[in-house]
Amino acid sequence: MIKNIGVLTSGGDAPGMNAAVRAVVRAAISKGMNVYGIHRGYVGLLTGDIFKMDEKSVSDIIHNGGTVLYTARCPEFKTKEGVAKAKAKCDELGIEGLVVIGGDGSFRGAADLSAMGMLCIGLPGTIDNDIACTDYTIGFDTAMNTAMDLVDKLRDTSQSHDRISVVEVMGRWAGHIALRTGIACGASAVAIPEIPFDEETGIACGATDIITKEVPYDLDQIAQTMLKKKANGKQNFVVVVAESIGHAHEIADELQKKTGIEARATVLGHVQRGGRPTVRDRVEATRMGYYAVELLEKGIGNRVVGIKDSKIVDFDIQEALSMTKPYDEKLHHICEEIAF
Ligand code: ADP
Ligand code: F6P
Repeated sequence: MIKNIGVLTSGGDAPGMNAAVRAVVRAAISKGMNVYGIHRGYVGLLTGDIFKMDEKSVSDIIHNGGTVLYTARCPEFKTKEGVAKAKAKCDELGIEGLVVIGGDGSFRGAADLSAMGMLCIGLPGTIDNDIACTDYTIGFDTAMNTAMDLVDKLRDTSQSHDRISVVEVMGRWAGHIALRTGIACGASAVAIPEIPFDEETGIACGATDIITKEVPYDLDQIAQTMLKKKANGKQNFVVVVAESIGHAHEIADELQKKTGIEARATVLGHVQRGGRPTVRDRVEATRMGYYAVELLEKGIGNRVVGIKDSKIVDFDIQEALSMTKPYDEKLHHICEEIAF
């Protein structure tokens, strides 16, 4: 039976990480284990910034965004020497199992540590929802709701001024936040990186009002539709652009030129990572945190926990890292068809 486990948060923070930490700590204590909190992800493992947690260490945190354990990116941990140093620190403290809450990068680190004999469990924590082995990542729901609230606000001013609002949302290389925010806000067009595009023309296959990743954008179709709708009484237009597409200002300028409608660009940025986690983030983080401890209790490591069809699942870390996440083509199609 495992006696001592550690928990850390790594990579970009995400609302709901605190709920996951709380669940890990409370579940472990209730199962008779000692739990160590590690500050700033793998940095804390290397510097020994590690402290024993009790049930009160996680009181009053479930409703807060950010992570009480802090987070960081740690280049040294990408080296063999870094991983060996971290393992030695765990051995010194008698830490036999580790829960790593983060994204793909953090799981690569956990795989390296697992290869050295540490029992590591990864929990998907990132607003991007870009982890293939799970339908859902901690922080995704809160980030989308934040983006939605902000775009709703933009729409108010856009409406008052008869403008086009081009909004860039986060998501690193994925368009999950952009697509859903676009739908939720009734966007006129959504630009996401997953859309297959015609190599020759750079135009999205089968799509008329989706901007492709490739410059030059074919914005003519969007502009034409906007003008048609404007003639029919529509006064404002929202265009949501995923971070990896970028160029929000460029797109706004081009649309303004092509339509004669005044356009403004807004990059939402890190505000999407903050705020009180939604019910969904708190509950899923709690379920996954508890499950991670159940795995460790059974002496199981080298797994990533996820949620598939509402059920908790777990995968070998390497297998999880090799999976690819299909984007929701049907949802995209719906978005496209009812966009204007
Ligand atoms: P995320 O976990 O959100 O994807 P990062 O990609 O920044 O965030 O990774 C977080 C940390 O995980 C990195 O700073 C590093 O310490 C560790 N990490 C990332 N990639 C690797 C890798 N290939 N091998 C070992 N550790 C890694
Ligand atoms: O992975 C979460 C995320 O917010 C991405 O959406 C974004 O690309 C990245 O992190 C930003 O990272 P940083 O906090 O280093 O600016």
